[in-house]
Amino acid sequence: MKELLKSFEDYLLDNLPLSKSFHPYFEEALGDMLKAGGKRFRPMLLLSVVKSKKPLLIENAFPVALGLEMLHTYSLIHDDLPAMDNADLRRGFKTLHKKYDEVTAILVGDALNSEAFNQIANAPLHNDIKVELIKALGSNGGIDGMIIGQAIDCYFENQKLELNQLEFLHIHKTAKLIAASLKMGAIVAQYDLDTQNRLYNFGIDIGLLFQIQDDIIDETQSEEQAGKTTQHDGAKNSFVNLLGLDGAINSANTLAKKCEDELNSFDLTLKDSLNDLLLKYIYRHKN
Ligand code: IPE
Ligand code: IPE
Ligand code: MG
Ligand code: MG
Ligand code: MG
Repeated sequence: MKELLKSFEDYLLDNLPLSKSFHPYFEEALGDMLKAGGKRFRPMLLLSVVKSKKPLLIENAFPVALGLEMLHTYSLIHDDLPAMDNADLRRGFKTLHKKYDEVTAILVGDALNSEAFNQIANAPLHNDIKVELIKALGSNGGIDGMIIGQAIDCYFENQKLELNQLEFLHIHKTAKLIAASLKMGAIVAQYDLDTQNRLYNFGIDIGLLFQIQDDIIDETQSEEQAGKTTQHDGAKNSFVNLLGLDGAINSANTLAKKCEDELNSFDLTLKDSLNDLLLKYIYRHKN
């Protein structure tokens, strides 16, 4: 897993969007948040699934993994904007609208969104596979996924949602992109449809767990520990606000156990390939 992450990081650094205009800092800003780091959870999910069946395709899948990370990074840059969560710190650095200005943050987000699809379209993979990848990213990262989740998250600040609405919010905001990451790995590796769907559904549970943990982080970690603005979810329909900290931890524990059982139900090759990565994340709220 460490080697895979390292080769992906190297690929990312070698393939940052480079074209240089006469804008004094736009291109620098475009690379800043990608270079700043982050856990690379989504690309690693994708690459781990590819590795389990088609290890020789890992390098061909790097642009797809980078596209996924670009779309995710754009969502974070926009999430931090004053009109959304209004946060000053991200991935251990000043957010782009703080370091530069809001126009730059908005446009870097826009650029990373379209570049995500450009990366996939140019990957050395069959065109029919690339169309499936673009569909998966477009729907789960877009209006039927992350975007509607974010819209609901922001609109319903200071307004308590019902439990089923809360689930809808978090499934769309976070879980669908994580589920798409596993599914996109399965598309590259040409797993059958049934396995693609099983991985996707598993990813929804992993994604929900990931967001519960993220809400726990907001409550319990300092900015230095988290590398981002924390104690910031006061107005949100977060799991901590709805269930209390202990309730959120309990529900993370229950979901973590379910995810571990689901992981164990996959074929041995798939399970082995995902095991290290997922066990680290499934229990991250306990560290
Ligand atoms: C943060 O995502 C936003 C959520 C969807 C919870 P990550 O926790 O994956 O952020 P990075 O990529 O590591 O910075
Ligand atoms: C954001 O959720 C999810 C995205 C789609 C970016 P949060 O607002 O909780 O993410 P953080 O805590 O700022 O990383
Ligand atoms: Mg948010
Ligand atoms: Mg936020
Ligand atoms: Mg959060």
